[in-house]
Amino acid sequence: MELMELTKEIARRKTFAIISHPDAGKTTLTEKFLLFGGAIQTAGAVKNNKIRKTATSDFMEIEKQRGISVATSVMGFDYAGKRVNILDTPGHKDFAEDTYRTLTAVDSVILVVDCVKGVEEQTERLMEVCRMRHTPVIIFINKMDREGRNPFELLDELEEKLQINVRPLSWPISQGQTFKGVYNLYEKALNLFEANTTRISETLISIDDPNDPELEKWVPESFCRKLREDIELIEGVYEPFDETLYRDALLAPVFFGSAINNFGVRELLETFLEIAPSPERRDAAERTVEASEEAMSGFVFKIHANLDPNHRDRTAFFRICSGKFERNKFYHHTRLNKKIRFSSPTQFMANEKSVIDEAWPGDVIGLYDNGSLKIGDTLSEGESLHFRGIPSFSPEIFKALENRDPLKSKQLDKGIRQLTEEGVAQLFTQHGTRKIVGTVGELQFDVIKFRLEHEYGAQCDFLPLRFHKAFWITSDNAEMVEEFLRRKWNTVGTDKEGHPVYFAESEWMLKVAREDYPDIEFHTTSEFKTAGAEE
Ligand code: G4P
Repeated sequence: MELMELTKEIARRKTFAIISHPDAGKTTLTEKFLLFGGAIQTAGAVKNNKIRKTATSDFMEIEKQRGISVATSVMGFDYAGKRVNILDTPGHKDFAEDTYRTLTAVDSVILVVDCVKGVEEQTERLMEVCRMRHTPVIIFINKMDREGRNPFELLDELEEKLQINVRPLSWPISQGQTFKGVYNLYEKALNLFEANTTRISETLISIDDPNDPELEKWVPESFCRKLREDIELIEGVYEPFDETLYRDALLAPVFFGSAINNFGVRELLETFLEIAPSPERRDAAERTVEASEEAMSGFVFKIHANLDPNHRDRTAFFRICSGKFERNKFYHHTRLNKKIRFSSPTQFMANEKSVIDEAWPGDVIGLYDNGSLKIGDTLSEGESLHFRGIPSFSPEIFKALENRDPLKSKQLDKGIRQLTEEGVAQLFTQHGTRKIVGTVGELQFDVIKFRLEHEYGAQCDFLPLRFHKAFWITSDNAEMVEEFLRRKWNTVGTDKEGHPVYFAESEWMLKVAREDYPDIEFHTTSEFKTAGAEE
């Protein structure tokens, strides 16, 4: 009985992230999904929530001033019998590492592209991470109500720049001011909606044959003709959609639409729910774990501090990989080798947080944490498991941390340790005592400074260092490592676990180091540490 329930719950879960270059329309699309799911009543709620947060917390001023969303959040809702879990990610590139980590907790991704701008810098980077992780991707080309590029040209650009085969599953009827909606190539159906920016739109017509003369009543003849020609061309040029290729991350289905006007969103959502993978299996260092196994397992991919200094607790975001999670049940904390239980695990439904008694594979729940959980930690029912693919990536900006108030050095130490545990930045040590903070963006230094001051009462300065990237080093040749560390004493250090790291000053210096020390391997992620795997 239990097992049947587990299978049923897994099959109805879709856990994914919507990702995009900033401004492509990620927030708008998320809102429209929530509207369809009945999780919110009018659009604007997600943004309003952002504003509310800024009003209650100074730290969020940073977010407001810069007009970006810093925090990752989870939004769950039920739609057509399915449980949809959307993991929101910060769009700004300075918080890219947060986004990459969130991508370790999803089963698929919807990538939003602006039809005027096409593939942008962050689009490419995010796609790279998806490729690395073999995450199935659906592409939504947004803002078709603008005079953007020709859809066929956009498809070519996606293939070329994102290095993935594409297959359109919906097709725009006209574009720009005369954009009418989309033809659903997957369902072979056409539903035209009234444009509506705040609520679910009324259906104008529903037909299942683009040659139906009924279409001419709603759409000018020339558009109808063009649509019929385009459909013929697409069906001639592209192979029929192959779901297996999509699930193997070798083919990206493409949808067109305008999120703000609700065009093409229902087609996207409904097809997504049909084809997107439910939780299946995850690789741990020890073995592959099937979602359908009865024993609960999962991992922490994000730690979020309470931004209110009066409540210094933290929430660990926990992705369930297998079995049923139960409130108050003791679980095995692999890293600490101890039993731990949670009396008030929370789930996130739209903007609401509530305590739950149970959760299933694919769900992301919030665990109250007083400091015993770290990013990458695994909980199980006794087995020692380490889930793969939650590495630290090499930071790109390095600064030395200087204490400005010697009386507060304890606070500074504690603060920087906790903030780096949350994944805000990475901490390295050089020459035993010098602390180096590494991030992917300048913005995190502002965040760290602000939070150290407001949450820990510590004052600090950051001195820029001319390091280009950090490389974790491994080798079977202990003598060579020793020599390397001695000779490069000025550009080596250790990460938080004490693993040796080389701070290359440039790509060229790395090349030289590789040539001079052929037995040493240089890794750009820390993955090999837990997984025993090479890059
Ligand atoms: P992001 O989360 O990816 O950063 O993008 P977001 O949804 O915030 O959208 C960025 C801007 O693009 C917003 O305008 C939004 O209204 C607009 N937008 C989203 N979808 C569409 C669409 O289908 N067509 C058109 N024409 N615009 C779209 P804004 O002026 O920055 O914000 P707002 O004041 O309108 O909220």
